[in-house]
Order: sequence, then C-alpha cells, then structure tokens
Amino acid sequence: MRVCVIGTGYVGLVTGACLAHIGHDVICVDNNEEKVKLMKSGQSPIFEPGLSEIMQNSINAGKIQFTTDLGGGVSHGEILFIAVGTPPLPTGESDTRYVEAVARGIGTHLNGGYKVIVNKSTVPIGSGDWVRMIVLDGIAERQKTLVPAGGVRDDEQLPEITAQFDVVSNPEFLREGSAVYDTFNPDRIVLGGNSPKAIAMMEQLYAPIVERKYAEDQSLPPVPVLVTDLSSAEMIKYAANAFLATKISFINEVANICDRVGADVTQVAKGIGLDSRIGNKFLNAGIGWGGSCFPKDVAALIHTADDYGYEAQLLKAAVSVNQRQRLIAVEKLQQALKILKGKTIGLLGLTFKPDTDDMRDAPALNLIEQLNRLGAKVKAYDPIVSQSGLRDGLTGVLVETDPQRLADGCDALVIVTEWQQFKTLDYTQMAKLMSHPVMIDGRNFLDPEMMMRAGFQYIGVGR
Ligand code: UDX
Repeated sequence: MRVCVIGTGYVGLVTGACLAHIGHDVICVDNNEEKVKLMKSGQSPIFEPGLSEIMQNSINAGKIQFTTDLGGGVSHGEILFIAVGTPPLPTGESDTRYVEAVARGIGTHLNGGYKVIVNKSTVPIGSGDWVRMIVLDGIAERQKTLVPAGGVRDDEQLPEITAQFDVVSNPEFLREGSAVYDTFNPDRIVLGGNSPKAIAMMEQLYAPIVERKYAEDQSLPPVPVLVTDLSSAEMIKYAANAFLATKISFINEVANICDRVGADVTQVAKGIGLDSRIGNKFLNAGIGWGGSCFPKDVAALIHTADDYGYEAQLLKAAVSVNQRQRLIAVEKLQQALKILKGKTIGLLGLTFKPDTDDMRDAPALNLIEQLNRLGAKVKAYDPIVSQSGLRDGLTGVLVETDPQRLADGCDALVIVTEWQQFKTLDYTQMAKLMSHPVMIDGRNFLDPEMMMRAGFQYIGVGR
C-alpha cells in the first residue's frame, strides 16, 4: 500500500521504516531539512537498536523515501499517518499545535482519491473529530485560493475539491529502546473509527504484522486487533500508560515500606507477580518513571478529567509518589554520607532508561539539580551520553568518558540507569579508586553480595 508518515520522531520514523520493511511504499515527511538529509543517507537521527539497518534495507529496496514536501507525501499516500509531537504545556495539557498544522496542511493538499488519515500521535481524547474538522478547514482554505480573478458571481459555484477521507485513531504502544521489536511483536493493534472502509484498509496495512510474519515467534496466534470508536481508542493509549505508571508507583511505595520493615521488595515483587491477575512486568522498584510518555500522558489524563469536572485522585497520587521517588537516592546518600556538601557523587547512567539516548524527564536531571543544591559535586558516566554531543547540553555535572574515571575520587556511586554493561564493570577496582565505596543502586540492578565482596557498602531501594 502507499503510505505517507508525517513527522519522523520516535513513533513516525519507526512506523515508517517498519511499514517499508514489510513491503509498503512509504514516504516520510519532516519539515527539518537537516534531519531529512541524514535519513536519506540511511542514518537514524535517534539511537534505536535495529532501526538504521531496516532504514538502509528499505532505502536500497526503493521502499522508503524522505522529504520535506508535504504535498508530495499527501498525494502519494492512501494512508496518511500524523505522527508529530504533542509535548506537554506547563498546565499538563498536550500542545496540539503541530497536529493542527499537519491536519490543515493535509487538507490544503488533499485532492482526488479516498484517503485514510491516521492519528498516531498521542492526542487528547476527542481529537479524531477535531482533526477531521481541521482537515475540512484546510480544504476550504485551498478552495478559496481557487477563486478566479474577479471573484465568483452569484450564479457561479466555487470549483469543488473532491476530497474523501476518514480519520482513524491508531495509538502506538512501542517502547524506546525496543521500538522496532515492539512494532513487529505487538501485544495488540488498536483501531478507532467509524468507517468500515478505513478500518478495512488499516487491517490490510497491518496484515503481515498481525499474521506475525516478522515476529520473533511466528508460531504464536495472530495479533489481536481491537476495533473501537475514536474516543475509546484515544483513551486506551492514556489508560495503558497511566496504568503502567501507577503500577510502578505502587511497587515503589511498597519498596519504601519494605525499607522500613526490613523486607526485600524484589522478592515481594516476584511473589505478587506470580499471581496472573497482577503479572510480573513493571514491578521493578527504583528511582521512578520518566521519559517522553508516562509523565506527559498521566498529566494530560489528569488535565482532561479536570476539564470534565473530575478529580483523578489515584493518578495524582501516582505522580506525587513518583516525584518523591526521584529523590530517594539523595535521601539514601544523606543516610550513608551525612553531609553532602563538599562530597563527590558519581552517577552511573543518565538517560531515562537503557538503550536510548533520551534524556526527556529523566530522573538523573532531578538528582543532579538536588545534589548541586546541597553542595555536592556531581560526575556521571553514561554509555551513550558520554560519547555524544548530548553531554555538552548538560549543566551541573561533569560527564566522564569511562566508569573508572567516574569512580576516581567519588564518595558514592548511584546506579541511575540499568545499562546492561553496568552488570560487569570492574567494581573491585572502582571501589579502590573511591574515597568512600558506597553504592546506591537506584534500580536494584546489581547483586548485593557481589557488590559487598567488591568492597562496597551496598544500598538498594526496598531491599
Ligand atoms: C512507555 C510505554 O511502555 C509504551 O507502551 C508507550 O508507547 C510509551 O511509554 P517508554 O517510555 O519507552 O514506553 O519506556 P518504558 O520501558 O515503559 O519505561 C518507562 C519508565 O518506567 C522508565 O523511566 C523506566 O525506568 C520506568 N520503569 C519501568 C520502572 O521504574 N520500573 C519498571 O518496572 C518498568
């Protein structure tokens, strides 16, 4: 099928590249020329395992193109994905101005055949109908430009633009760091809309994924496809992220109680996770959730509820537990080292989670700020940030190029991000380089006994 994806952030680029990989003809549109140039050469502007490979293969197979030309993309696609950002405003509301600009742009370029316009961006509930309205506005604007010189006489009609389209909501559930894998191995595909024709086209688009042709385990039954109305599809995205964020805040709360009563939250999580009603995923206690989705989507859902006269108390509590949790490492450092003024603290990991270069709403940023406020010197090592230009954008932290240099002279280390390579560092050597070998394991990632053997005072979260 012919597909146009507008916006090449995480969601747009991964969607475009994966759809090209399964055989569709894809044009990705972005208004950032530099980025388009980079992608044309087969390079991904984001760090995402496996993404550059499928981009390069699809470019070589002539299945994907990158352009800044929205009009060209719109005329190419039977299916047009809107995948631009919806960053949070200070109020917690989503900023939908980019979605609006794209919807209007699509309207001004629509002409001829039937198109499905797909909302892939996480948009406030009710946006499906709103996008439809903006696209129609765009069509009307274009129609006005077609008025002949001298205007239209009363007995004359404006030349009509024949544009037929439907809007579908198709929320995205991919995780950063495993975005390509998640696209080919989804738990479900959600399609919201009331046009059987549009839904049928979307089902055709996703058929190879539904049939698990590109899945790790091809013997599994087909991926469930859930067809709903527009608002329910939009709500599913918010509810899924809000549930997962709440689940993490819940286990973090349990961890804090474990710390006080002397229980081990990792064993507790195992014990409750074996209950199939609870499930064992997203029960890792630590320094809280961050990233580009959970904080933004929970805030937006609280805001929407508020707009409709409902106070989302549980969600607000999940947020406030998370805010407190982000500083739990500071509390633990104070317990271990007492005064932090004049101490040197080394952070292992900066990104909000492993296998990504994303620092958006990363707990590390709160830690750096709070430690600076308390007069500590902060150093850090991160497998990606240390090697990239990202380190230059950080203030209040000295970014080291390797873990040994980080440890040198530190009074304590904090595991902030559970990068796999942190499992096998030479901790014995690192302990020797430190003034106080204290390890605050903010992700319960390391083996406490191994760390003690390496010479560390080991402090986890709730264990
Ligand atoms: C999330 C959702 O998982 C995904 O479905 C949605 O499309 C976008 O938001 P992502 O933000 O990439 O994906 O990361 P995820 O792996 O879900 O982790 C989110 C945050 O929760 C991270 O800060 C992570 O460290 C934290 N987390 C996760 C925990 O603290 N404990 C856990 O058990 C799991």
